[in-house]
Amino acid sequence: MSAPPPANPADPIVDAYGRRFTYLRISVTDHCNLRCVYCMPEEGVPWLPKDEILSYEEIAQVVEAAAACGVHKIRLTGGEPLTRRELPRLVEMLAAVPGIDDLALTTNGVLLAQQAQALRKAGLKRVNVSLDTLHTEKFARIARGGSLQSVLDGIAEAQKVGLGPIKVNCVVLGGLNDDEAARFAELTVAQPVEMRFIEYMPLEEAKGCAMGSGNFSFIGNDATKRRIEARFGALEALEVGAGMRGPAEVWRIPGAAGRLGFISAMSAPFCAKCDRLRLTATGEVRSCLLDGGGLDLRALLRGGGTREQLLDVFRRAAYLKPEVHKAWDQIPSANMSRIGG
Ligand code: GTP
Ligand code: 5AD
Ligand code: SF4
Repeated sequence: MSAPPPANPADPIVDAYGRRFTYLRISVTDHCNLRCVYCMPEEGVPWLPKDEILSYEEIAQVVEAAAACGVHKIRLTGGEPLTRRELPRLVEMLAAVPGIDDLALTTNGVLLAQQAQALRKAGLKRVNVSLDTLHTEKFARIARGGSLQSVLDGIAEAQKVGLGPIKVNCVVLGGLNDDEAARFAELTVAQPVEMRFIEYMPLEEAKGCAMGSGNFSFIGNDATKRRIEARFGALEALEVGAGMRGPAEVWRIPGAAGRLGFISAMSAPFCAKCDRLRLTATGEVRSCLLDGGGLDLRALLRGGGTREQLLDVFRRAAYLKPEVHKAWDQIPSANMSRIGG
């Protein structure tokens, strides 16, 4: 992989294939209050030592540097970001960074009802909520903690306090929740939510706990879309192909209030249009969720590094990004709950 050419401080962060990075996903913690079958084993997950996790001040310093060269969208992820203490304090700090115009959060929703108001007040713009089933008992089987009601309450509260438009993320697995696709799609008929169907990605821990158990199978989004069309007829295309604005192809049931998103990282990689870099909880700038390397920023942050030095790490990390992520069986070891999805 080549090194980036010399850049001026305010130049955009770009990679070797001409992609430009304007979106930073920040994992604020590796902790989670659930153990979703496709993400984490039920027991024996060692937590990272606290002093390895970036402080809010360190995260804000990184965001200030990134914003100075064109990053304008921030998403907080985890683990489960709402398990980190005083998250609204971080939100407030990031909302005040000049140039950040989209500040969002991806959560499992369990603690959302309690925190939505404070997050909104602190400057959060919107939330995406994971929800893989609408059945109480199945929720217990998939998430192995929390409750369906707490997530539904979280979504309702987020909507009430103005954290919309809300996107609901559902990882579809055969033999587990694939039979619920039409029921989930139906939610969009009356509600202005974006219901997103996500293909399972075989990251390290996921491989072991979901597919390794032999209990579930991969379901491509073609099959999920067919199931929905069997019930509602042909969907209307909103953002597909060259019109896609993010990882999701977006469709709509004709006349519906909400939208349907299909995130097909495995069957139709969207890498060519990828505009994101990641900051892990321990301060690594990661070039890609499924592939590629990363570079450490923490030592620099703690050693009094300058903004130019921080940006130099970003520019070099961006150059580690692959053109397209590897195939299913070659995806290198990585851990979703530490990278933040
Ligand atoms: P918006 O800003 O609302 O578009 O959110 P988002 O789709 O960027 O974020 P979200 O955290 O809701 O992610 C939804 C799903 O897409 C999750 O399963 C992520 O792991 C997956 N995802 C997000 N970014 C990437 C990416 O760069 N590559 C791949 N392969 N999957 C991604
Ligand atoms: N494959 C696809 N999506 C996953 N998520 C977590 N693990 C996986 C996986 N192995 C999703 C969660 C959440 C988002 C951050 O990532 O459901 O919505
Ligand atoms: Fe926790 Fe999200 Fe992983 Fe589920 S998918 S165990 S909610 S980090």
